[in-house]
Amino acid sequence: MGRIKPKKVNVMSNNKRKKIGIFDSGLGGLYVARAIRIILPEYNYVYLGDTLNVPYGGRSYEAIYNLSEAAIRFLFDQHDCELVIIACNTASVTALRKLQKEFLVNNYPDKRILGVIVPTLESATELGATQIGLIATEYTVRSKIYDEEIAKITPCAEIFGQPTPLLVPLIEHQGDKYMNQILKDYLKPLIEKGLDSLILGCTHYIAIKDRVRELTNHRVRVLSQDEIIPPKLKDYLCRHPEMEERLSKEGTFSIYATDVNTSFLKNVEKLMGAGFEAKKAEYA
Ligand code: DGL
Repeated sequence: MGRIKPKKVNVMSNNKRKKIGIFDSGLGGLYVARAIRIILPEYNYVYLGDTLNVPYGGRSYEAIYNLSEAAIRFLFDQHDCELVIIACNTASVTALRKLQKEFLVNNYPDKRILGVIVPTLESATELGATQIGLIATEYTVRSKIYDEEIAKITPCAEIFGQPTPLLVPLIEHQGDKYMNQILKDYLKPLIEKGLDSLILGCTHYIAIKDRVRELTNHRVRVLSQDEIIPPKLKDYLCRHPEMEERLSKEGTFSIYATDVNTSFLKNVEKLMGAGFEAKKAEYA
């Protein structure tokens, strides 16, 4: 038997390919990714939608954590992502703390994972919000993470959560014609509370932000994460030059999904325009 030659690792070329990963349970995060790319076009991005397992919102803690960890491993190991944004609120409320405190520390101490909850709440309070409605998946509302985090930022603000489980399937499967009635029913008890702001606490709801603004007669400030996360990421990169310098800047954008189905493809084309291929993400 001959000696096994050690693999040559080309550190320089590796360094040149460091990307930003953006992960969501399905389509919703693509709205955030598109908006990020508009204000930060120079970086290289990889989007991953876990379309095989969407929706996450009704799943258990263990299932959501495991799906999120597997997705992050895919972005780190197969795509050289140095920084991953968990655009999915459900995955952020469930998995982010453990991923940052245990998974990263033990496996990838130099990489970073960011969520969307704290930046969204910071944005809300910067705008003076105190009576804040939250529409989100069952899991996100029940987790009370939005309530816990707002108490750390400003104890005088209050969150009124309303689970809205029918919205993700309608958005994923073009169920537009049923949307207004369902939304009105969901929004009614919240509006009666006299809100000043309403967080769309699910990336999928970016797709219906104009409709929500109309249905609330523009009387409530509707906070949509495609408007919040890009400037917050820009700010994060300015404050962390050690990360920013590691990122490659060729302006590439690749899209992966765990199930490349027709519904996802239609949505990719609608959102990104023609010419974006969605590739199958293979990981266990
Ligand atoms: N897009 C996800 C979020 O932001 C939820 C959709 C799902 O239930 O998978 O919460």
